Amino acid sequence: MDYYQVPEGFMWGVATSANQVEGGWNEDGKGMSIADCERYNSYQNLNDYKKVNDMTTAEIQAALKDKTTKAWGKRHGVDFYHHYKEDIATLAKTGINSFRISIAWSRIYPNGDDEKPNEAGLRYYDSLFQTMIDNGIQPVVTLSHYEMPLNLVLKYDSWYDKRVISFFTQFAQTVITRYHNLVNYWIPINEIDSIIRHPYSSAGLVKDRFPNLNFDEVIYQSMHNQFVAAAWITKFIHDKYPNAKVGSMITSTMVYPYTSDPRNMLKATQIMRKSYNFSDIQLRGKYPKVLLKHIHDLNVHVKMTDTELRLIKENTADFVAFSYYSSVCTAYDTTGLKVTKANRTTGVYNKYLPESDWGWQIDPVGLRIILINLYDRYQKPLFIVENGLGAKDKLTLDGKVHDQYRIDYLRKHISQMLLSLKDDGIELMGYMVWGTTDMVSASTTQMSKRYGLIYVDLNDEGDGTYKRYLKDSYFWYQKLLSYKNKIPTMFFNK
Ligand code: BG6
Repeated sequence: MDYYQVPEGFMWGVATSANQVEGGWNEDGKGMSIADCERYNSYQNLNDYKKVNDMTTAEIQAALKDKTTKAWGKRHGVDFYHHYKEDIATLAKTGINSFRISIAWSRIYPNGDDEKPNEAGLRYYDSLFQTMIDNGIQPVVTLSHYEMPLNLVLKYDSWYDKRVISFFTQFAQTVITRYHNLVNYWIPINEIDSIIRHPYSSAGLVKDRFPNLNFDEVIYQSMHNQFVAAAWITKFIHDKYPNAKVGSMITSTMVYPYTSDPRNMLKATQIMRKSYNFSDIQLRGKYPKVLLKHIHDLNVHVKMTDTELRLIKENTADFVAFSYYSSVCTAYDTTGLKVTKANRTTGVYNKYLPESDWGWQIDPVGLRIILINLYDRYQKPLFIVENGLGAKDKLTLDGKVHDQYRIDYLRKHISQMLLSLKDDGIELMGYMVWGTTDMVSASTTQMSKRYGLIYVDLNDEGDGTYKRYLKDSYFWYQKLLSYKNKIPTMFFNK
């Protein structure tokens, strides 16, 4: 029989973020975060990603006044805050050995600039990580996943202000010191490139708060400040806990030329190159010239001191973590070409690929190409920390969810990953399904965009029992993991 060999110690896992699952938005001293201000409106055009994710000060003020949770998906999440023991025990039965979660910054420092951390928040994560360990699961921890304390936005204008670097590193130091015995893998900032695409939900930047500044300057200054903070954290971990590893984490979307016209290929190459600029900084330790030129061409000034640049240079990341969901095409002239319906990374439609219920084109081979590209670029271990399908699931009367489409998605992506491991000479640390239980979508604040292996009875309006049901994909993943490090190739035949 033919097998795929998986390296010893490979991390098979699941992944999520605090603001999308926890709920408990104001419990045990937690402060309000930027995610708590993202309201679900049934009438909003979900394909207009910018509109859904850009916030105004007036909208934040309105969010502050409303203390209810129903319409505020990220205030209730799926109540993981109270269900984590049950959820972790259920997920452990799939055979996973790792679980990526973020620490909600505002649970530890409710206002971001507090002098002392909130002990109740720290105790929650003591118990959460211990529960994972007790179930044979290694935590992989993101420190900032779209959930900074709202007070830092209102009082300091978020990451634009260099004081926020110290607030974030203080938070990081507190939690790393507290949990270093339980956690060995740290990701300072989720999708560090995403600040360019969605400055509010990623980094709390509100355009109307900078009336006298070019907003591009605000974004690129904030981005630089995040790189400085991440480098400081990398140094802290390497100095104090040399066995722990730190990852750069980027969004990776494969971009193809629409046709073999070399001008289309050039455009695709330029877009892909641009997308790697962010991990270049964290893995090679310096700003690529092309990015500096881009910032210069925008006619903005980013304050970077020599000390900051040295910190970035001397403290590079150990591994390349990335999310992968889909691909798009591009062309030098897109006039008249059909574009994808996807809300986040739109591009020219690829006629060879199917699409998800949300118009994200599904491309397992693209994952393999990304693995090759990233490995050839950095020669450092790769880690797929997000890959999954947001789809409309249906709970049957007998409590089942027949999500064959998700099984197909996972099967095809995982088999491309295994082929890459076998033939492409890459180094890969692990693979995580984006989706533990269902959760609130980052970009649309919907519950109905479901990613989980476990269904949660809750709708977009926040109505439901929060009861959990195992999907068919849960059992499929369990079967896959039962093969441990030797997976029969025929398992991937349909
Ligand atoms: C990633 C984010 O970009 O995409 C996650 O890190 C997010 O937080 C995931 O959930 C899927 O996006 P969405 O908008 O469908 O939830």
